Amino acid sequence: MDDLNALREELLAAVESADSAEALEELRVSALGKKGRITGLMKTLGQLSPEERRETGQALNAVKDAVASAMDSRKSALENVELEGQLAAETVDVTLPVRPEAEGRLHPISQTLDEIVAILGEMGFSIAEGPDIEDDFHNFTALNIPPEHPARQMHDTFYLPERQDGSRMVLRTHTSPVQIRTMQAAMASKDGSGMPLRIIAPGRTYRCDSDITHTPMFHQVEGLVVDKTGRIHMGHLKGCLIEFVRAYFEIADVPARFRPSHFPFTEPSAEMDIGCTRKGGELKIGAGDDWLEILGCGMVNPKVLAACGIDPAEYQGFAFGIGIERLAMLKYGIPDLRTFFDADLRWLKHYGFVPLEVPTLFRGLTP
Ligand code: DAH
Repeated sequence: MDDLNALREELLAAVESADSAEALEELRVSALGKKGRITGLMKTLGQLSPEERRETGQALNAVKDAVASAMDSRKSALENVELEGQLAAETVDVTLPVRPEAEGRLHPISQTLDEIVAILGEMGFSIAEGPDIEDDFHNFTALNIPPEHPARQMHDTFYLPERQDGSRMVLRTHTSPVQIRTMQAAMASKDGSGMPLRIIAPGRTYRCDSDITHTPMFHQVEGLVVDKTGRIHMGHLKGCLIEFVRAYFEIADVPARFRPSHFPFTEPSAEMDIGCTRKGGELKIGAGDDWLEILGCGMVNPKVLAACGIDPAEYQGFAFGIGIERLAMLKYGIPDLRTFFDADLRWLKHYGFVPLEVPTLFRGLTP
């Protein structure tokens, strides 16, 4: 019996000083496991007389129960300590200042495109799209650009390798081919539901050119209106574009003039200028005695309508082409075109825009 008391004291002390779940488990195995000390003693009970067996058995069971329950309470004590340690270590100090969050910016091109599309969208234009890789017909021929036209020469146009039939695709040099694709699609619709046409085509364009005012890739917005002859004339073109520049530059009375020009795909053609002042290298848009060229436009050349299968006696329309980078530079005072495509985060932070939460028309329509 003394031996059992000593064993009990020894085991209880060991349980009390076990300082981890692993140590406790080791102890359990060595006392109560299959080959444990208490289990070993249990096995010897059979050798005793029935009297002794009952007495020693009871005492042994009492030791076993005491050790097992000491182990249970030690186990939960250890778990509490561990939990408390974890809680203390993971305390969040809510008084600390918040970490600055990296915030993305809208590129000025996206912002300008959004603004242009929102203004023209409100006027009733819808968005049309075409491929960046074009064929000769859509980029040139159908737009009345004859083979000897300078725009076709290698120094302007990115040509793709020759195809089997000897023809070469191009990276579109302007968004005007979308005019052709839209008119063709309208003519292909059997019930004539494609007419009248009021579309804008924003997108990338490419020319083999690079200096302070040219980059090999840039953006344009093309505009096209086609309706029955007599319903659309140059007055509509002028009214629409004057309204557009006023809304875009947010200057209600910005002076505008239309200068005769030449584009193969419009007849007559014009360039639109807006009033400005230039003083000491600084440009101010609005009233003034100077003029700034802003876009090209004109009445759709009957040859272009005919190339799309539209009868020029029955239909006429107007078109315009706007350079997005140029409009962005003028409105937001960005001096160098090339910086648009340098992907310099400092530049973007300075010239970029905090994105609007409400999706604008453009981002809503183009994924
Ligand atoms: N496609 C012309 C260019 O890239 C821009 C242009 C001018 C488009 C007049 C038009 C237009 O639709 O009528 O320079």
